Amino acid sequence: MDLIHFDYQEEFEFIEVEILQRDRQFRRRQQSRGRPKTDPAVARRELTDFNDHEHDFVPSYAAALDPLHYERQWVTNSVSGFYRDNLITDVTRLVKGGKEANVYCCPANPELGVELIAAKLYRPRMLRHLRNDAMYREGRLVLDSDGKEVKGDREARAMRKKTRFGQHLGFMTWIMHEYGVQRELFDDGADVPRPIAQRGNTILMDYVGDDWGPAPTLSEISLAAEEAQPLLDRVMENVRLMLSHHYVHGDLSAYNILYWEGEITIIDFPQMVDARSNRNAFSLLQRDIQRVCEYFVRYGAEADPTDLSLDLWENYTNGRM
Ligand SMILES: Nc1ncnc2c1ncn2[C@@H]1O[C@H](COP(=O)(O)OP(=O)(O)OP(=O)(O)O)[C@@H](O)[C@H]1O
Ligand SMILES: [Mg+2]
Repeated sequence: MDLIHFDYQEEFEFIEVEILQRDRQFRRRQQSRGRPKTDPAVARRELTDFNDHEHDFVPSYAAALDPLHYERQWVTNSVSGFYRDNLITDVTRLVKGGKEANVYCCPANPELGVELIAAKLYRPRMLRHLRNDAMYREGRLVLDSDGKEVKGDREARAMRKKTRFGQHLGFMTWIMHEYGVQRELFDDGADVPRPIAQRGNTILMDYVGDDWGPAPTLSEISLAAEEAQPLLDRVMENVRLMLSHHYVHGDLSAYNILYWEGEITIIDFPQMVDARSNRNAFSLLQRDIQRVCEYFVRYGAEADPTDLSLDLWENYTNGRM
């Protein structure tokens, strides 16, 4: 399968940088009262004058955007393969723009048995944040576009030095890791959205919510007293299941747990670490459990995060799970 289309990612990186540079040059020239050679508005138009007609399919969300808005081309490019594969029929709305990604709502091909699909599109801008991921990346394999481990010296050096090629590898590793983990956990019965497909910067998964809107995160709702304990137990069961696969979520909190019709769904896995090889795994596990408990205790659940973390970790390290 054709997994990575990275060229346009680079193109957008280039465009962002180029626009910034031209804006800066323009301001500098204005300050020195010189006449600008290039008006940034013109530059912006030149740089974002993509040809929608190269795509047979422009999703309705993108078509409604200003033709010069880079999101229009970004969304169209990112999902066109899924449209060709007959997985989605459109992109209708932006669900949420997060730190690293935008999530969009897409009507599904009816044959898939679901009405809606969530498309998570990682932003090219995220490349600049990869510097901070050392703590999470420790002990993780570097994957190429076929999902195979990259072992060469050249690749390792490129990753270390953050060359463009190195950043490209880091970016792919990050996304493929999220997708692979989500699939493994879903297949073993974890409460995570069913992953459907991955191409380049985009992951498709089951959408939690309905036509009116996405499921809220726990942080956005108040729980009824009788729901708190069973839902906390359920989250902890998921934490245990993840650990039995050697994973610690690493960013678990009420912000990354969706609530829908009395049930929880855990999302957002790029920070997942391998408990066998990452020295921070236990600290991250403790932090995850601490945050989750803080939330549920507010609604009357009883939990001792320190005991819970130690119990889980002991069982894990003694091979009892
Ligand atoms: N499968 C889904 N169904 C419905 N809504 C979803 C789904 N996945 C994500 N969302 C919504 O999109 C938001 C962002 O998703 P996610 O947390 O995976 O990305 P992120 O870039 O890490 O965001 P953040 O920086 O807010 O953590 C979530 O808070 C949730 O509201
Ligand atoms: Mg999130």
